[in-house]
Amino acid sequence: MAKKTKSAKESEVVMTELVLPNDTNTLNNLMGGRLMHWMDIVSAIAAQKHSNLIVVTASVDNVSFGKPIRLGNVVTLKARVTRAFSSSMEVYIQVTAEDIPGNKKIDSNTAFFTFVAVDQTGRPIDVPELTPETEFEKELYEGALRRRQLRLVLAKRMKPEDAVELKSIFKLKPEDLS
Ligand SMILES: CC(C)(COP(=O)(O)OP(=O)(O)OC[C@H]1O[C@@H](n2cnc3c(N)ncnc32)[C@H](O)[C@@H]1OP(=O)(O)O)[C@@H](O)C(=O)NCCC(=O)NCCS
Repeated sequence: MAKKTKSAKESEVVMTELVLPNDTNTLNNLMGGRLMHWMDIVSAIAAQKHSNLIVVTASVDNVSFGKPIRLGNVVTLKARVTRAFSSSMEVYIQVTAEDIPGNKKIDSNTAFFTFVAVDQTGRPIDVPELTPETEFEKELYEGALRRRQLRLVLAKRMKPEDAVELKSIFKLKPEDLS
């Protein structure tokens, strides 16, 4: 039987948080760990919406914090599934921070989190496929395969020589990395 397919938009989640004193470091900037916690929640909900199943975080790609988010800023986190594989889903998260009284908005950071849908005993279960619609969704969908191979190689769950799509971006011949 053909797998069910869903759009990226169906998984979209937007979460808004106000940065309070308990969220900040001694410089009154949002703590990285608090932001990661919010990113984990918003992206887990997106993965749940795509799969209608329980999900667990399998991996977090590198996250860098370019500009500080200040006490009193309003943080908006937007998450969508970019691609689904068998039981795993890659989620893209965009974070913006707004100083509403100062009328200033910054693009804070973006990240990819991977979730796996599981049953009550923690065993992975298959999820619906995702069909990208917009140009941006198609770009994210294409790149998801290479990012998946990179994270599986780094997690020692895939041999570098099997990461065929990943090698192609470095224009390496298969034998160069084997
Ligand atoms: C994620 C988890 C369910 C994978 O279970 P597993 O028995 O190793 O399952 P498999 O090897 O069959 O892999 C299942 C899927 O997970 C993906 N996966 C496993 N490890 C991964 C990693 N480090 N990064 C990305 N994907 C990963 C596999 O690629 C596979 O995806 P696919 O089905 O779409 O092909 C299991 O490792 C787990 O429960 N981890 C702990 C999750 C957790 O507690 N998260 C909170 C962190 S504190």
